[in-house]
Amino acid sequence: MNYSKKTVKDVEVSGKKVLLRCDFNVPQDKATGAITDDKRIVAALPTIQYLLDQNAAVIACSHLGKPKEGPDPKLSLAPVAKRLSELLGRAVIMAADVVGPDAQAKATALQPGQIMLLENTRFEKGETKNDPALAKAMAGMAQVYVSDAFGAVHRAHASTAGVAGYLPAVSGFLIQKELEIIGGALASPKRPLVAILGGSKVSSKIGVINNLLEIADTIIIGGGMAYTFSAAQGGKVGDSLLEEDWKDYANEMVKKAADKGVKLLLPTDTVIANAFAADAESRVVKTGEIPDGWQGLDIGPETVKLYCDAVKDAGTVIWNGPMGVFEFPAFAKGTEAVAEALSQTHAITIIGGGDSAAAVQQLGYADKMTHISTGGGASLEFMEGKELPGVACLLDA
Ligand code: 3PG
Repeated sequence: MNYSKKTVKDVEVSGKKVLLRCDFNVPQDKATGAITDDKRIVAALPTIQYLLDQNAAVIACSHLGKPKEGPDPKLSLAPVAKRLSELLGRAVIMAADVVGPDAQAKATALQPGQIMLLENTRFEKGETKNDPALAKAMAGMAQVYVSDAFGAVHRAHASTAGVAGYLPAVSGFLIQKELEIIGGALASPKRPLVAILGGSKVSSKIGVINNLLEIADTIIIGGGMAYTFSAAQGGKVGDSLLEEDWKDYANEMVKKAADKGVKLLLPTDTVIANAFAADAESRVVKTGEIPDGWQGLDIGPETVKLYCDAVKDAGTVIWNGPMGVFEFPAFAKGTEAVAEALSQTHAITIIGGGDSAAAVQQLGYADKMTHISTGGGASLEFMEGKELPGVACLLDA
């Protein structure tokens, strides 16, 4: 797939109406609806500011959550419009619908240098079906399409891909940056390239492990999925997370790594607990020696040292997935140690979105990383080597 795409600087936007797809799918407080993390809104600002400075009329849009039955007031983008307005220091006109009469009227009246936000694109059922009629209606409001929704580029939806069939389509600065940094690390990494893969399930990381075995020099496995590797090698895993059906695959990956000369590091010890609870009783045992009634919730101190040593001389480190149940302080030490090691290495450090990004932020190391992706599923699919529909649809540079 070609990641070299035209950007917003390669098209004339001055005086034009620009449909800008952002990923404003931000976390909200369940009770109050307040935005609890505005990083995705902040990440879209450079492109928005550029377009406004160029005197474009910006029609921004995004999905929020997963509404299934049409409009749902709890998933309105109105709180995003408010926050965006505070961050920009100017009015953001909020439309009451996506391509309905209110959006159409406000888009028609929109002047150069003004910005409006359409309602949640998923209020239209055609959005997730990539319905051409919806894509055409959205495109009809503008003359140029800019996508800066990196977090949603793995979705072939009307507003992330379909609309590019009707307008000149280019990337914003956020997508450009994500493609350059993650794409660069995958295509021509500064070596050695160390990939740290954690999270609970082997089944959700198969694609990434498989693809990175073709690219990386070292692969480090942590998190719940390490117990499937351990069980596959005949170890006792007690009540730990285990995917029986993926044991053969785990063994295949171990063999593939050996055949390719990729160093595959698995935990040598683990912190076990007598319950899945923050205050559970815990102790450290060797990998493969977890008694019944106990479960592994973090990598052990010997493994921490092994993994931290492995990133010291890396040229590039890609990290996706925590090493243990970092939500429980007693079982966060492995994840914390890896985050600290990454903050100290001279390597280019790239944090996949989702849990690992949350861990790095929560632990206070965010500003020490080269790049924290704004995409969860999107960065995972990127690292799997899959084609990203929201990128493929943009004009090649
Ligand atoms: C995300 O939060 O990963 C993106 O906004 C995509 O959201 P989705 O999984 O609902 O498509």
